[in-house]
Amino acid sequence: MADFLTDEEFKLFSELIYKESGITFSTTNRAILESRLKEKLRSMQLEKVMDYYNLITHDAEEKKNLLDSVTTNLTRFFRNMPHFEAMEHFVIPELVKAKRAKGKNKIKIWSAGCSTGEEPYTIAMLMKKHLPPNFTAEIIASDLSLKCLLVGKTGFYQDSKVTGIPDDYLRMYLDKVDNGYQIKSEIMNMINFDYHNLKNDSKHTDFDIVFCRNVIIYFDEAAQKDVIDRFWRAMSPEAYLFIGHSESLFGMNTKFEFIKTDWACFYKKNT
Ligand SMILES: C[S@@+](CC[C@H](N)C(=O)[O-])C[C@H]1O[C@@H](n2cnc3c(N)ncnc32)[C@H](O)[C@@H]1O
Repeated sequence: MADFLTDEEFKLFSELIYKESGITFSTTNRAILESRLKEKLRSMQLEKVMDYYNLITHDAEEKKNLLDSVTTNLTRFFRNMPHFEAMEHFVIPELVKAKRAKGKNKIKIWSAGCSTGEEPYTIAMLMKKHLPPNFTAEIIASDLSLKCLLVGKTGFYQDSKVTGIPDDYLRMYLDKVDNGYQIKSEIMNMINFDYHNLKNDSKHTDFDIVFCRNVIIYFDEAAQKDVIDRFWRAMSPEAYLFIGHSESLFGMNTKFEFIKTDWACFYKKNT
């Protein structure tokens, strides 16, 4: 069967998406791009894919919609539990000690590529449960998918989505409502959902912890390095970085220190 896109058209779209987001399409995932573009043409009643290309080069909003449509948003509460065990037993105690030594009591966290919010809500619940009472945590949750951010902002999740939440957390931090669960306001208030494309520098700085899991896996090496350097600049001097368990900084020229604990591996900025 003939490809939906000519090689030339595939190149135009994949280069534009890469330039705008870092997301990389190659022959192995070309079918995903083709299927998303087919849907676009159908919903916008356009006949030629080049009509759509010309549209997005002039229409910033539609370009954002295209980027949103090519993202993979799979996520879940307490995804990769060892990361949260390492947070509880290692990162939180270390940061509390360091903050106390400086007379401070606020921990700033970034969930970069937060999808529909399960990751930042997991972090917020964990911080609420394990931080000393006089400490606070502020979480910035960002993504380039506006659709996902809207879901995250509601704090509502269907029954099938909360299965990974341990019972004690479910009881303490969510309310049962019709067809699902609502995150309690004390947890929702800890998080600011914000549109942000990791192709750009963050307007926020001084993060003590950055979670960017299962995001750079969709980028090529150069785009990965750009994002990791951007995190370095946005982090406080002794901050921690968690990336997905199938992602690695191995072979990348960064100054992050690899930390191996009994629970999980992650990275530390050492200046
Ligand atoms: C597979 S989800 C991971 C969600 C969560 N971090 C987790 O591990 O469960 C990847 C998310 O990264 C976002 N993303 C991809 N490229 C991005 C970029 N350039 N800027 C911001 N977010 C991006 C996607 O929209 C998607 O929601």
